[in-house]
Amino acid sequence: MRDRVVPLCLSVDKSKANSVLRALRSSKLLNDEYKITRTGDTVLIPIKETGGETLARLLEEFSIVDCNPPRRRVLVNTKMPSMEHLGEVVIVRRNVLDYITPRDLVDRIKAVYPRVRAVWIKEETCDSFRKPLLRLLWGEEIREVVVKEYGLLFKVKLGEVYFNSRLAEEHRKVASMIKHGEVVLDAFSGVGGFAIHAVALRQVLVFANDLNPVAYELLVENLYLNRRRLRGVVVPLNMDTRDLVGVLREGSVDRIIADLPHQSLEYADVYEKLLRPRGVLHIYVLSKLSENIEELVLEKFSSWSLECCTSVLEYSPGASIYRCDLVKV
Ligand SMILES: C[S@@+](CC[C@H](N)C(=O)[O-])C[C@H]1O[C@@H](n2cnc3c(N)ncnc32)[C@H](O)[C@@H]1O
Repeated sequence: MRDRVVPLCLSVDKSKANSVLRALRSSKLLNDEYKITRTGDTVLIPIKETGGETLARLLEEFSIVDCNPPRRRVLVNTKMPSMEHLGEVVIVRRNVLDYITPRDLVDRIKAVYPRVRAVWIKEETCDSFRKPLLRLLWGEEIREVVVKEYGLLFKVKLGEVYFNSRLAEEHRKVASMIKHGEVVLDAFSGVGGFAIHAVALRQVLVFANDLNPVAYELLVENLYLNRRRLRGVVVPLNMDTRDLVGVLREGSVDRIIADLPHQSLEYADVYEKLLRPRGVLHIYVLSKLSENIEELVLEKFSSWSLECCTSVLEYSPGASIYRCDLVKV
């Protein structure tokens, strides 16, 4: 098996993919050098070996096939963990330490990013503010960074707000869909990723709202940091999105960005009230491989027109974050 050019995959119906993944992972049979792929209703899961009790049990229900999945990103001839690089700081997920020693990890990071001054481990993501719980693995206790996206500056307080540097392209993509003159609501704005890209590109009015007071303060600071590059206007708000219906006029918004992937669907009634007819909703939703993202979204927006759903980020081996674009009919 180790000498094979093409790996073997377990071919599984999508409805069973998550439970099979759990079983493979706990018996260390998952070959995570390769990506899990999906064709129609079938999920192909790369595996390491063809023996063992767990596999024998799974083979009663599923079959093994040759597959050709893309490799996960590999660096310096060995697997490089997925990490966030924010200025002089690197953040790595805790589970990476399951297969690499802290010392090796720091050495590899320093080889790739020689200017790095701190390596933080993300233990978990906490509460509805989606704040990372961080532990310093190596270096200086840097808790504040300024990150550049397309020339725009974003100050981030590590551990106090949500921030994901892998969203830079997404911020730009959505901002470029906005048309001059629109009224936009960034309903879960964080430190201002979508809102600031939007007003840097277009003459628009953006209401940017986040319940986390630290995110709100950073949004205000980030507006100041980028003031010379902004063409439109951002109104920062620090409230529960649910209460926006008492502040903004019904049907007064042309476009809503709803980036709270674990819970954004729970605010469907708010988007319905605030959007004008033919208004656009970009909603971010976390979905397991076994789920049908379009069905999940249309359950809440049955009378809306669903334009498309696009995968934006891999959240875990069994789940991704999608952006679905809808038009209110
Ligand atoms: C995934 S983050 C948004 C990230 C941001 N769009 C970006 O691109 O960096 C979700 C945000 O929603 C905020 N949030 C959570 N519940 C909220 C609520 N009920 N009302 C407003 N904001 C909320 C959190 O504080 C967090 O900053």
